Amino acid sequence: MKDSLANADLGAMGRKTMLHPVSSVADLARTGPTLYTRAKGTILEDAAGQEHIDMGAGLWCVNVGYGRPELVEAGAEALRNLSYQHHFGNSAAKDTVRLSERLVQLFAENAGAGHLNRVFYGTSGSDANDTAYKLVRYYNNLRGKPAKKKIISRIGSYHGLTAAATSLTGIDAYHKMFDLPLPDVLHTSCPHFYRYAENGESEAQFSARMVRDLENLIEREGPETIGAFIAEPVMGTGGVFLPPPGYFAKVQALLDKHDILLIADEVITGFGRLGHWFGTGAFDLKPDIVSLAKGLTSAYFPMSASMISDRVYDVLAAKSDETGAFMHGFTYSGHPVGSAIALANIDVIERENLVEQASEAGSYLLRALRQATADTPFVGDVRGMGLMIGIEYVADKATNTPFPEGTAPHKVVSKHAFDHGVLPRALPFLPVNSFSPPLNISREEMDEGVARFAHALEAAGPDLEKLQG
Ligand SMILES: Cc1ncc(COP(=O)(O)O)c(C=O)c1O
Repeated sequence: MKDSLANADLGAMGRKTMLHPVSSVADLARTGPTLYTRAKGTILEDAAGQEHIDMGAGLWCVNVGYGRPELVEAGAEALRNLSYQHHFGNSAAKDTVRLSERLVQLFAENAGAGHLNRVFYGTSGSDANDTAYKLVRYYNNLRGKPAKKKIISRIGSYHGLTAAATSLTGIDAYHKMFDLPLPDVLHTSCPHFYRYAENGESEAQFSARMVRDLENLIEREGPETIGAFIAEPVMGTGGVFLPPPGYFAKVQALLDKHDILLIADEVITGFGRLGHWFGTGAFDLKPDIVSLAKGLTSAYFPMSASMISDRVYDVLAAKSDETGAFMHGFTYSGHPVGSAIALANIDVIERENLVEQASEAGSYLLRALRQATADTPFVGDVRGMGLMIGIEYVADKATNTPFPEGTAPHKVVSKHAFDHGVLPRALPFLPVNSFSPPLNISREEMDEGVARFAHALEAAGPDLEKLQG
């Protein structure tokens, strides 16, 4: 009784005092926040005491699951020893140096990327992409190519929400009202076969068309003006889009031909999510900059890392005495507590073979979700790689007709899912629910989560029928 009164008070307080990210201001005023109180493994408990299977691992980030004593201990010890150390002026914390060495090794040994030998730190995926955006300018200014700084991204991509990262993001909803994107960011076609293939087009033909679109854009703008291409190996927030066959090999060749850097945004795909350590290795990419965050610390601490290639670093090094200091960085770049937690997190991933586990669990969950939704008229496609899975809704499965513009069937399903104690995410671009649980989710939890989701989908049926138009 006392607790629920306290929760009611907090709800009222939150309603009065907070502005939430990517949330409806009006809904908060109407209903107040949904409060959560604790989490363990893959189970999240809300303030009413209801348990939910967290099929999102937060925002695709709690890779090793909630409440890991090893990570808590590593953070506590770091706080006791050296609660803060900045990295300006070439100062350093020991664990941050250790982490850098470990990341360089992981990329060399597990992603075929021995050319990524420098690490720069921040605190979020967005700031890692801002760092990439600025590095492209810096590198090309140093090379005497000041015109070569436009960055090409893709429609449907998500790269974060600082000003440059919002611009790189290819989803209009994040641009409008903020007068973005910035003028030096361009967007090319979204390589999502299920939704954007033309009638009768094979996957190979679709893939070739996507690369042609990119090539046409480069040629239209002039390759001498294009500094970089940014891509998530598997597109996440847009709707879980896997690259069509041959896509990245052809893109990479095109970028090489025009001296354009590849930025791999591995904020979601890094640290095992795809059943590979990194998307870079999974798709044989040769990026010059890799953005990492989320799974780096399993979100026990806000931390990002940018892996930087020898080709880019060598230019910075060669021109350093002439140019002066690299004038970029943040108060919390390379935070010692985040570094200690990241090291403990990587230990857990290695010790428990969570990368292989993600691959096996991912196949199991994909199969289970396909089976559970096979007879549902509104589920058009269930796809995924590792523990990154998406379910796309359509008004008519037989013809793949989308739901009418302005409806949100996936949000309707998510609401029912919450009531049934399972949390998939409702994404902002296409009507897709994503499933990206902690990598150590058990078979029993997957079975239970899929069963709850199937019940939620059934309960959502009448609401979805109303949306059909
Ligand atoms: C691929 C990708 N890049 C960047 C970001 C931004 O990360 P953050 O929210 O930590 O700024 C996200 C967040 O979901 C992401 O999915």
